[in-house]
Amino acid sequence: MFKAKKVKDSKQEPKKIKRASKHSAILRGFKDILPEHMCYWQHVYNLAHKLFFDYGYGQIEVPLLEQTSLYKRTIGEHTDIVTKEMFTFEDKGGDSVSLRPELTPGIARAYVEHGMLNRPQPVKMYSIGPLFRYDRPQAGRFRQFHQLDMEIIGDENPIADAEIIFLSYLFCKKLGIDVVMHINSLGMPESREEYIKLLKEYYKPKRRLLCEDCKKRLTKNTLRLLDCKEPSCRDLTQEAPQLIDYLDDESKQHFVRVLEYLDESEVPYELNPFIVRGLDYYNRTAFEIMPVFEKAEEDKIPQAIGGGGRYDQLIELIGGRPAHGVGMAFGLERLIDVVHKSKKDSVKRKRPQVFLAQLGEEAAKRAFPLFERLRESGICVRANFSKSGLKQQLEIADKLGVVYSVILGQKEFLDETIIIRDMENGIQEVVDLEKIVDELKKRLKNHE
Ligand code: HAM
Repeated sequence: MFKAKKVKDSKQEPKKIKRASKHSAILRGFKDILPEHMCYWQHVYNLAHKLFFDYGYGQIEVPLLEQTSLYKRTIGEHTDIVTKEMFTFEDKGGDSVSLRPELTPGIARAYVEHGMLNRPQPVKMYSIGPLFRYDRPQAGRFRQFHQLDMEIIGDENPIADAEIIFLSYLFCKKLGIDVVMHINSLGMPESREEYIKLLKEYYKPKRRLLCEDCKKRLTKNTLRLLDCKEPSCRDLTQEAPQLIDYLDDESKQHFVRVLEYLDESEVPYELNPFIVRGLDYYNRTAFEIMPVFEKAEEDKIPQAIGGGGRYDQLIELIGGRPAHGVGMAFGLERLIDVVHKSKKDSVKRKRPQVFLAQLGEEAAKRAFPLFERLRESGICVRANFSKSGLKQQLEIADKLGVVYSVILGQKEFLDETIIIRDMENGIQEVVDLEKIVDELKKRLKNHE
């Protein structure tokens, strides 16, 4: 369908790989997610699966690697993502391929490729996974990051835009974070052309005051001047003509209805004429989700934790029959960072309750089945099977912060008993091995 051009063989020496720092082996802009942080990710994933199932969205997985032409065609030849940020290379067959910089083009391709237009419309899908953008690494900006993406394809009605915005808000609310939706309408490409001409006329005499990036944007990507974060550009933008004043009538009507639906659902939003988004395929509704902090970090512009909008030409660009679409994506690193900083941090870390210590060969052999018995009964248990000294094992139990340790020694093994040790006061008691689950459950009740 979209045949990638063959790229000439490159005879260049491979460039040196850039590391995060002299002493680090990981690439700049890439990061590990450690086990102790995983509870946040799991919480977000679990919440997403539940919420999207309840609202009738099907989960979709699309490849990490696609033909470069898919992204050029959809995101736009002159966008920052396509010109500077894609991890593009030639595969062994000589085709130009790219690591996905976002999920929407892949999902739209799958919609066309699997004839989803013939299913009852709209088709609602969500996807979670890693993305790659060769961005300038800085706080909240990575070269590998993750998104939670949701799309409604095959629906022109403004209620679909409102649903996407409402669900995004609901998701933040469930995570216990305060946000406000910044919303704009980008109209249709035809009405936007007129506006872009006006914008160029406004900025041209002020060109020398613009940052270097915006000087380039002035000719090829003029709209992006409006969301530049450089202070000098931001000052100029305050007086710039606003797109909302030049919308075609149908887009105006569409926008008003989206806002009416949002008013009914009590989603907090602000009209923001500077939301233009960095991807070419948007028309009409465009929005970004801004976190609200109790104490605003002065002179720091908060980063959007998510963004999206309507795309009514994207499916056709890919080669499908026309189909309307709207969607959004959360940046999960940024979202989780906000959850982490939030006072209402809703993530519960499951703390181990019991440590199973064993002394001697025979007791060690019993340890696996006993561990499994405790686990099956719903007790959160930990052990270190390869340690044999009691002191060492109790130290580990202490570090883990368990409420009780159960100690299976040589004597207990022969008597079919086990010791329960209260980790707070060190008091120990011998109980029947048979009754250990009931005994622990009874005692743990007082610690809930
Ligand atoms: P986007 O605004 O490019 O939209 O990305 C969505 C979110 O991903 C951003 O708001 C941000 O939180 C996060 N993000 C983007 N770049 C980075 C980065 N380099 N490091 C960390 N986080 C980042 C899209 O990608 C569209 N596909 C959204 C969409 C879906 N529109 C319609 N459907």
